[in-house]
Amino acid sequence: TWTTETFVEEAIREIRARVGDKRVLLALSGGVDSSTLAFLLHQAIGDQLTCMFIDQGFMRKYEPEKLVKLFDARFHISVEYVNARDRFLEKLKGVTDPEEKRKRIGAEFIQVFEEESARLGPFDYLAQGTLYPDVIESADTNVDPKTGERVAVKIKSHHNVGGLPKDLRFKLVEPLRKLFKDEVRKVGRSIGLPEEIVRRHPFPGPGLAIRILGEVTAEKLNILRDADFIVRDEIHKSGVYHDFWQAFAVLLPVRSVGVMGDQRTYAYPVVLRFVSSEDGMTADWSRVPYDLLETISNRIVNEVRGVNRVVYDITSKPPGTIEWE
Ligand code: XMP
Repeated sequence: TWTTETFVEEAIREIRARVGDKRVLLALSGGVDSSTLAFLLHQAIGDQLTCMFIDQGFMRKYEPEKLVKLFDARFHISVEYVNARDRFLEKLKGVTDPEEKRKRIGAEFIQVFEEESARLGPFDYLAQGTLYPDVIESADTNVDPKTGERVAVKIKSHHNVGGLPKDLRFKLVEPLRKLFKDEVRKVGRSIGLPEEIVRRHPFPGPGLAIRILGEVTAEKLNILRDADFIVRDEIHKSGVYHDFWQAFAVLLPVRSVGVMGDQRTYAYPVVLRFVSSEDGMTADWSRVPYDLLETISNRIVNEVRGVNRVVYDITSKPPGTIEWE
């Protein structure tokens, strides 16, 4: 029978046998898969592992700092933090089409990844948090005809990366490849990942960039980050975080009239998107208590400059999608 203990023991043995004394690079995203992976690899090969975190500038408020601190202070795994915020923002200048945004973010991710892995490397292996469902549809890897090994031609789709340049071919280490998501969560929990990471809501690779409709600017990122923070703060406070598959804010590119004190305002609306789902393929809009909606709405309008209206999305999937882009 499958237990997390035997899985962890076996995975560590396998990683050591495969990697030997070579160096491994892992792109950490802060999600449960890459975090569990980092922890396993660190136990298996210690300093031969380099964890790299590329900050695109589209993460939620305080998350990059929290991630680096958690790994450093709590797990003694040092993380190479790459601040690429300005570069990504520059690439999105004037871009409004959702798929074009994803494409540009993906291309820039490869660019940064390549530069940084060259700077920190060389590396022999790339660790990926591939899960069993990804293996089944393994379009993201090729088998090297000489050695029969799986090699990366694409970083896990999580990062929305198209294809790695030909000369950047790593051998893969994929210790989670036989696991389903719920098993990864169990393993993560058993090796001491905080519940906060183990049961975190899904968060898209392009992050807040696809929750700002229209052009992404530094100003709008600040607005959405603050609104999103209030949403999470309030659902944590009222103990309903785990009632949702996802719960977040979206910033619209239109403005509407409001009144604040005796001043007329003309500012952006924020959409609240709370859904329940089993797997993200279909979703139902959540019947949130009015009191909670009221608290969130009041706080956003009072605390976030640039927002004067909050609306609630009551569309299920299908016909809507969970994200707005
Ligand atoms: P949709 O919006 O298609 O979302 O109903 C379904 C699930 O996928 C997530 N999502 C993404 N994840 N890159 C990602 O890594 C993306 O570009 C992306 N778009 C949507 C979404 O958050 C939801 O969990």
